[in-house]
Amino acid sequence: MRRVDEVARSDSERGELVLRRRDDGALELRANGVFVMDTVETSTERELAARALALHHDPREVLVGGLGLGFTLAAVLADERVARCTVVEIEPALVDWLREGTVPHGPEMLADGRVRVLVDDIARALRQAPPSAYDVVLLDVDNGPGYLVHDANAGLYRAAALTEARRTTRPGGAVVVWSAAQAPELEATMREVFGRWQVEELSYPVDLQGRAETYWLYAGHVSGV
Ligand SMILES: C[S@@+](CC[C@H](N)C(=O)[O-])C[C@H]1O[C@@H](n2cnc3c(N)ncnc32)[C@H](O)[C@@H]1O
Repeated sequence: MRRVDEVARSDSERGELVLRRRDDGALELRANGVFVMDTVETSTERELAARALALHHDPREVLVGGLGLGFTLAAVLADERVARCTVVEIEPALVDWLREGTVPHGPEMLADGRVRVLVDDIARALRQAPPSAYDVVLLDVDNGPGYLVHDANAGLYRAAALTEARRTTRPGGAVVVWSAAQAPELEATMREVFGRWQVEELSYPVDLQGRAETYWLYAGHVSGV
């Protein structure tokens, strides 16, 4: 049986959030007992940023929904064209764990002068954001519409929230959504919101502790340039 040490735990109105260290040295994040992510298979978290930034000619303002263990944010900050990255994370404890070094790579990342962290629900942050505030919007707050960790996130994959994400993205930019499973309904909704020819579905094979899986990205391009 695999040995796992609890590193940190927090309780919020959404339930229990636990950070554990496995015997392979990896950190693992769980919410209400459900695996959220670890520090080993992070290729698609990074690709979420890399893909969107590669498509943009001058991505200066980036919004990341869901800090997690910070791999998407790290990939955003690796791009020197980015002038500011706003991260919206609903769990204050997670922000503290990164800021204080419970997650060892966290302090340096969050000390980057381009980073602004808001502890909030991304759905509300999108509603409150001004029009065309960002060049790129990256959403990875849950497992995707089919396998929600928090039922309250269902709305984020529907037309109203995606329309807010589109509204706050400048023409020429993109809204990219991460999903743990293929999500045809999400793709169809994004085609309604962004336009029939403006949405790409991308699949990535991943190795989840020896288990072959496929993760998905859905990119909506904001036309108008
Ligand atoms: C899968 S993790 C993100 C992983 C991240 N892309 C990375 O590279 O580490 C999802 C994160 O979204 C946060 N979250 C969940 N629901 C949220 C919401 N409605 N608004 C903002 N953050 C949320 C979770 O607490 C968690 O930190």
